[in-house]
This record gives sequence, structure tokens and C-alpha cells, in this order.
Amino acid sequence: MTKTLACSLLLAVALPMAAFADGAAIYKTKCTPCHGADGSGQTPVGKSLKVRDLRSAEVQKLSDGEITKVLTDGKGKMPASKLEAADIKAVIAFIRTLK
Ligand code: HEC
Repeated sequence: MTKTLACSLLLAVALPMAAFADGAAIYKTKCTPCHGADGSGQTPVGKSLKVRDLRSAEVQKLSDGEITKVLTDGKGKMPASKLEAADIKAVIAFIRTLK
């Protein structure tokens, strides 16, 4: 009984979140391990892969199209993100707020 209740509560919370793309949440789960919560790339994985600071001018000057390509196809040691188009758009919008 308690389990069922907990499950339906979880569903009630999770479903609306899945229904529309939240760039910050996507970034937090999919990108933080390598790029860091602040985009600096100062995480153990980010440092070993030598990721660029997402807040830097070099990265910010990339067009949405170029970033979409990185997220769709991957680039160098970065794996393809497997995100849907709407999620990619949302996460790019989030990256733009990091600078
Ligand atoms: C496994 C670690 C890893 C994950 C997870 C990851 N990245 Fe990356 N990312 C990299 C690496 C490494 C590069 C540099 C690729 C290169 O230039 O060879 C990169 C490059 C980028 C670039 C291009 C900037 C540049 O240096 O050219 C953007 C934008 C980016 N990542 C955004 C994201 C976003 C958004 C996510 C989450 C959906 C994400 N990354 C997830 C490792 C990762």
C-alpha cells in the first residue's frame, strides 16, 4: 500500500517534468559530470578530457546550429547526447545563460 502510494506520487512528479523540456534539469543530469554545474569543466572527468569552458567566448560564439551538431553527433571525446530536438534547444538556451 505504502509502496503503491509512493509510486503514484513519484509518477505524478516525474510525468509533468518529462512533458516539457527543462534545459537546466537536462544539463544537470546529462552534462554536469564532464562540463561542471557552472560550465567551467572543472570536474575530474572534465579536466582529464580537457573540455573547454562553456562560458568562454570561443564556445559562446558557436551558433545554435553548431552546438546542435555537437550534441547530435558528438565531437571528439564527447559522446552524442541522444537528446530529442526540443531537449537540445532547451539545453542550448541553458548554456547561453551560463556566461
Ligand atoms: C563524457 C563527457 C561529456 C559529456 C557527458 C558531455 N560533454 Fe560536451 N564535451 C565533452 C568534450 C570532451 C568536448 C570537447 C570535444 C572536442 O573539442 O574534441 C565537449 C564539447 C562540448 C561543446 C562544444 C564546445 C567545444 O569545446 O567545442 C559543447 C557546446 C558541449 N560539449 C555541450 C555539452 C552538453 C550541453 C552536454 C549535455 C547534454 C554535454 N556537452 C555532455 C565532453 C562531454
